[in-house]
Amino acid sequence: MQKNKSLVLGITGGIAAYKAAELVRLLIKSNISVQVVMTESATKFITPMTMQALSGKPVYVGMWDSTIDNGMPHIELSREADAILIAPASAEFVAKLLHGRADDLLSTLCLARDCPLLVAPAMNKQMWENPATQRNFEQLKADNIAVLGPGNGEQACGETGDGRMLEAEELLAHIKAHFTPKILTGKKILITAGATLEMIDPVRGITNLSSGKMGYALAQTAANMGAEVTLVSGVSHLSAPMNVNTQYASSASAMYAKVMENIQSQDIFIGVAAVADYAPNEIANQKIKKSADSLTINLKRNPDILADVANLPSPPFCVGFAAESENVIEYATQKRTAKKLPLIVANEVTSAMGNDDNQVTLIDDNGNHPLQRASKLNIATEILNHIQRML
Ligand code: C5P
Repeated sequence: MQKNKSLVLGITGGIAAYKAAELVRLLIKSNISVQVVMTESATKFITPMTMQALSGKPVYVGMWDSTIDNGMPHIELSREADAILIAPASAEFVAKLLHGRADDLLSTLCLARDCPLLVAPAMNKQMWENPATQRNFEQLKADNIAVLGPGNGEQACGETGDGRMLEAEELLAHIKAHFTPKILTGKKILITAGATLEMIDPVRGITNLSSGKMGYALAQTAANMGAEVTLVSGVSHLSAPMNVNTQYASSASAMYAKVMENIQSQDIFIGVAAVADYAPNEIANQKIKKSADSLTINLKRNPDILADVANLPSPPFCVGFAAESENVIEYATQKRTAKKLPLIVANEVTSAMGNDDNQVTLIDDNGNHPLQRASKLNIATEILNHIQRML
């Protein structure tokens, strides 16, 4: 995502307004500047002072605020924004929006906007299910206004159902996706991620320290860039990325089967998973009991998913990862040649495994391209930009 996007966050009257506070914090942490505008009723649920402290900017509520130089906050605020997000969006505010009414600062600002508008509904489930509300939201979508959610679950009123506002983390993911340039639209990408687990008996197995963070970051970023993404995940505790077809396969052979099942018509394949090179010859049906002083487990070679994909008659653009503990660049270069890959990403194991950031070097026909140490999300963006340029 490009840095320093700016968002107007409109807060309307609803108990979910408290989630807007956390959302502002997350947006600021992600380098998105936030200008908060509240309706009068929103101020009954959360104070402008709270939102000012979190956003670092004065909060606007009234139409007649004289602190804006030209006295026209409804024009000025939207011109400075890359997008407007209404969160929470009450049933009443949405009804107003779709009729183009403008009787307070926030509704006037939305009507006068020249940037995209996104709304995150929050209301009781009966209000949400009411045909009038449903009609209103259908019309909003037809007017090119993005509707984020609502979520489903327990509501502040004690009822359970649709109508909850999405959580702050989910809204942040939508905003990041919205701001990401769609450079991979029309591309199909298959990504493997995480560790594999090779069972020895029903309770024990051989695995490794891969967290899945890099592969999941690539999947989320590729989807944000407009690609159709399939993620085949081994063992990982991360939650499935948004707008990604996520499938699970824990052993190397199960992952191999899932990849081959989905490889047809893919434009790009990125093997990020830390796939076990060996698996036990047989998996014991019962838990192995301890008896002798030592135990030998015979291992057999696993199939190499990436090498086999790269060897298909008309392979997708294949990208590998090489995690090495020594001679990182040399070994990665050898792997790129052996597996016939146009691009490999080299990294050092202790820097890579489980961490939120990493330092990697991209190796292609034009040589080595070291990237600066950065978060895995930023590295994902750089890798995908590089792939897009190579394509
Ligand atoms: O050969 P090595 O495991 O070091 O190569 C690493 C690259 O190959 C990674 O991209 C990994 O996802 C992929 N790989 C694979 N199947 C294997 C072993 C590695 O796809 N059995």
